[in-house]
Amino acid sequence: MTRNYSQTNEITALYEISKLLGSSLNIRLNLRGVMRVLSEYLDMKRGTVALRSSNEVSVIAAHGMSEEEIKRGRYRLGEGIIGQVAKHGSPIVIPNIGDEPLFLNKTGARKTIKKENIAFLCVPVKFKNEILGVLSVDRLFGSKGVSFEEDLRLLKIIASLIAQSVKLHMEVEREREAFLEEKENLKQQLKGRYRVENIIGNSDRMQEVFESIHKVAPSKANVLLRGESGTGKELVAKAIHYMSQRTKGPFIKFNCASIPEGLLESELFGHEKGAFTGAMSMRKGRFELAHGGTIFLDEIGDLPLTLQPKILRVLQEKEFERVGGERTIKVDVRLIAATSRNLEEYVSSGKFREDLYYRLNVVPVLLPSLRERREDIPVLMEYFLRKYNEENGKSVSISSDVLNVFMNYEWPGNVRELENTIERLVVMSREKVASLHDLPFNIKDQSLKARYAVQIKDALPSAIEEIEKTRILDALKKTGWVQAKAARLLGLTPRQIGYKIKKYRLEQGSL
Ligand SMILES: Nc1ncnc2c1ncn2[C@@H]1O[C@H](COP(=O)(O)OP(=O)(O)O)[C@@H](O)[C@H]1O
Ligand SMILES: [Mg+2]
Repeated sequence: MTRNYSQTNEITALYEISKLLGSSLNIRLNLRGVMRVLSEYLDMKRGTVALRSSNEVSVIAAHGMSEEEIKRGRYRLGEGIIGQVAKHGSPIVIPNIGDEPLFLNKTGARKTIKKENIAFLCVPVKFKNEILGVLSVDRLFGSKGVSFEEDLRLLKIIASLIAQSVKLHMEVEREREAFLEEKENLKQQLKGRYRVENIIGNSDRMQEVFESIHKVAPSKANVLLRGESGTGKELVAKAIHYMSQRTKGPFIKFNCASIPEGLLESELFGHEKGAFTGAMSMRKGRFELAHGGTIFLDEIGDLPLTLQPKILRVLQEKEFERVGGERTIKVDVRLIAATSRNLEEYVSSGKFREDLYYRLNVVPVLLPSLRERREDIPVLMEYFLRKYNEENGKSVSISSDVLNVFMNYEWPGNVRELENTIERLVVMSREKVASLHDLPFNIKDQSLKARYAVQIKDALPSAIEEIEKTRILDALKKTGWVQAKAARLLGLTPRQIGYKIKKYRLEQGSL
């Protein structure tokens, strides 16, 4: 068969192909162009480029095939001719596909042509020794006994151009994926870092608190804040209020433990004029004042049993009567309650109504003690230092041994105690750097005791041994080194004293 393309044609084609391969970032598009050039210049009727993954090879660009046919072009490694070339990396030429049992025609692209008229040439797309895929073309021929050597040579060159381009593309793709992954990671990290204004804390425990605040604030749910005194319950209650839709409404705070029982009801629900002696005029209670906003009931555990049903009613029916009044008053109030008490214990001992407990405990938020999140101490310290330096027009900083003491101190008063301690340091310190002797006595005392306790614990065993050794030595001297007698004197068995004498290496003449 005579070549129907010339040398110049070949070079033009290669030039076109290399240009096309670099034409866009879309490798499929580029390869489709390549196949078109092949068919135009080299009279090859059909062609595919298939790329290899770990266990299969699939057609990604073709000429003379429909999208459907392209989709069907997937082969396991070793399956069919394309699979074979993808697996072993050597070219295969089928001079006449009609004679070839390996020929699968999976894509169904050649149904209309008599198989005897088609030769199939298949070369690996290799970058160095890596098999990236397969380039294959169908060549129509009229007569039998054609040599395909020239075609093969050209296809190998084209395959190597494709290989470079595919490799480059894969690298770009990998980088892009890594970039996207990193972006996604960063996004996740950012998503995990909830922030709430004015509430400091980087610890995981505080992150959980921030997450709860973000979730619960926009809802209508009542919230129960739990945690020791000074852990920030009131701060969180305010944050929830200001992050809710009620932000423009009032935030009314009331401490149930702060007022004698007799006055509580009228404080909370108000009273009518003349309701009791001294009730000179009508007065609104906290619930009424909180209408359209949030009421924060601190130390809810201290709410007397007599008042608990009334609170339950406001929560459920949103209504109440003022003390000494008949008229039912309707309010729209969100309740945030707080307690440092063990409410469950209160419930089981009958101090707290179970139904109210369940009403309140719909969304509990637990504020961790400062001891449980010591990693937040330095950031809190810095925050309060800046705050009180600003307030006092000072620039006091803190020495590292103070930080050390702070990190180890128990902080029974939690953040409130830390805040007060730092305010005091800033106010009192005459030096630029506050040091240990500026600390309040209780903190210094605890840290001294802690250090002392450590020393004693370390020293104890050797002190005991020293005493024991002296006593045994004394007994031995008294009994003229008769071990049995010395043992009896000390209340030991002969075996025990023998063991101790060896242990302390006691011998006559020892001091
Ligand atoms: N995480 C925190 N970040 C900044 N300040 C805090 C934090 N937790 C508590 N505080 C401060 O500590 C003090 C006590 O907080 P508060 O909310 O009254 O505690 P609680 O109601 O639990 O007793 C307040 O001055 C508050 O601003
Ligand atoms: Mg409080």
